[in-house]
Amino acid sequence: MYIIAGVLFITALAGLSKHETARRGNAFGMTGMTIALVATLLKAAQQTMYGGFRGLPYTLGLIAAAMLVGLAIGAWRARTVEMTGMPELIAMLHSFVGLAAVLVGYNSFLDPGVGNTGSMETIHRVEVFLGVFIGAVTLTGSIVAYLKLSAKMKSAPLMLPGRHLLNLLILLVSLALLIWFVVDVPEFGRFDRGIIPLVVMTVLALLLGFHLVAAIGGGDMPVVVSMLNSYSGWAAAAAGFMLNNDLLIITGSLVGSSGAILSYIMCKAMNRSFVTVIAGGFGSDGGVVGEDRDYGEHREINAEAAAELLANAHSVVITPGYGMATAQAQYAVADLTAKLRARGIDVRFGIHPVAGRLPGHMNVLLAEAKVPYDIVLEMDEINDDLPETDVVLVIGANDTVNPAALEEPNSPIAGMPVLEVWKAHDVIVFKRSMATGYAGVQNPLFFRDNTQMLFGDAKERVEDIIKALPTGSTQGTSSAKAATVS
Ligand code: TAP
Repeated sequence: MYIIAGVLFITALAGLSKHETARRGNAFGMTGMTIALVATLLKAAQQTMYGGFRGLPYTLGLIAAAMLVGLAIGAWRARTVEMTGMPELIAMLHSFVGLAAVLVGYNSFLDPGVGNTGSMETIHRVEVFLGVFIGAVTLTGSIVAYLKLSAKMKSAPLMLPGRHLLNLLILLVSLALLIWFVVDVPEFGRFDRGIIPLVVMTVLALLLGFHLVAAIGGGDMPVVVSMLNSYSGWAAAAAGFMLNNDLLIITGSLVGSSGAILSYIMCKAMNRSFVTVIAGGFGSDGGVVGEDRDYGEHREINAEAAAELLANAHSVVITPGYGMATAQAQYAVADLTAKLRARGIDVRFGIHPVAGRLPGHMNVLLAEAKVPYDIVLEMDEINDDLPETDVVLVIGANDTVNPAALEEPNSPIAGMPVLEVWKAHDVIVFKRSMATGYAGVQNPLFFRDNTQMLFGDAKERVEDIIKALPTGSTQGTSSAKAATVS
C-alpha cells in the first residue's frame, strides 16, 4: 500500500505541473493520501494486536480522535481562507511539520522502541539529531514567515551585524553538539546525557530559523515560502527515518525536492542567487524602499475611451497582478476577453512568475474563470511580442511591470526580470491610486507617454469597459476578416 501511495504522490506532482492535468493530479494525490492513511491505521492495528486484541479499540480510538480534530480544523480553515491569505496559511502549516519533526525526534530519543546497539545506535542518534535540527529551523522560520506575511511583524529585514557569521557559528556549534550526542552513548542503566546536547541544539536551531527568515525583506518573501516548503519536506523525511516509515521518507523527499526546485525557479524569476537565499538575508542590500522620485505627470483615461482603444486594437495583452485577486476581477476579465476575442481581436495573458502572493496565483484565478489555457502565457513567452502589441491592460499589477527593475540599479527590485509592457503601443494601468506595490517602490511606468491610468476598483472598471464596448463591426473584426480572406 505504501508503494502504491508513493507512486500516486509522484503522479500527483507530475499532474500538478500543467494546468490541463492539475485536477487529475489532485485526484491522484488524494487517493494516495487515503491509501496511506488506511495503511497507517492497519499498521497501528497490527502492532497493537501483538499484545492481544484488548488494546485495539484504545489505539484506533486515539488515532480516530486525533484525525477528527485534524479534519475539523483543516476543513474549517480550507473553507474560510481567502485566496489572498493562502501564503500565511501555507507558512503556518509548514510550522506544524517542523513541530511534528521535533516532537517525533524527542519521542524517538526518549523511547527508541527496540534497543539499538553499535552502529545502529549511531545511525539512530544522527537521525534524531538531524530531524530535530531541521524541524526546529522550519518551526520558527515558518512562524516568522507567517507573522510577516500577515503583517503581524514588520516586514523590514532584521540586519544584525555579522549575521552570516552568526549563522555559521550556530551551524558549527551544532556540528560539535552532534558529535557529543553520537559519541557519548550511555552504558546500560546509566543516565543518558545526550539530552544535554539535544536540548542545546534545539534552542540554537530555533534561533537560527528565526534569524534566517527575520533577515529577509518583504519583497523576497515568495522565495522564503517555497524554501520553507522544502525544509518542511526534509523535516518530514527525517521523521520518516526516525519512525522507520518508508512512505514518510518518500513523501518528505518529494516535498523537499519539489520545494527546492520551486525555490530555484522563483530565485531565477526574481534574479536572486539560490545560495544566498539559503544563507538568509538575501536581496536586502542596497536600494531604499519607498524612495520618492519625481517621474513627472501621469495621464488618466476613462472606461469609455479605454473601450474605444480596445475595440480598435488588433492585439491585446493582459498582465494581471495581486490587485486582480483582491478585486476578484477574474470573472469580469474573462468576460472582457471573450467579448474582445469574439470581435476577432487577439487577446493573450502574460503571467509573471511572482505575480500575486503565491506561485501560480494568477493561473489559478484565470482557470477558475475559465480563461482558455492556451492564451495564458508565461513572462518569457510573451515579452518578445510586447513591442508588436497594440494595447496592454495592466490589471492590479505593479512590481511585476516596473521598468525600474531593469533601469535603476539601486532599486530594491533591481535585476528582477519584469513584463516589459512599456514597449507596447498603449498601456492602460488599472489601480485605485498612485500607491506603490508590494515592494514599496514607485513605478515609472505610470508616468510614461504611452501609459494611461484607469483609476478605481479593477472589477468595476473592467465591467464599465464591457458596457462601453461599441457594438457592431470593429477594426479588429474587419481586419481579422480581411486576414481570413487574404
Ligand atoms: P503588487 O506589486 O503588490 O501590486 C498590486 C497592485 O494592485 C497595487 O499597486 C494596488 O494599487 C493594486 N490594487 C490593489 N487592490 C486593487 C483593486 N481592488 N483594484 C485595482 N487595483 C488594485 O502586485 P504584483 O504586480 O502582482 O507583484 C507581486 C508582488 O508581490 C511582488 O513584489 C512579489 O515579489 C510579491 N509577492 C509575491 C508572492 C508570490 S509567490 N507570487 C508572494 C508574496 C509576495 P492600489 O492600491 O493603488 O489600488
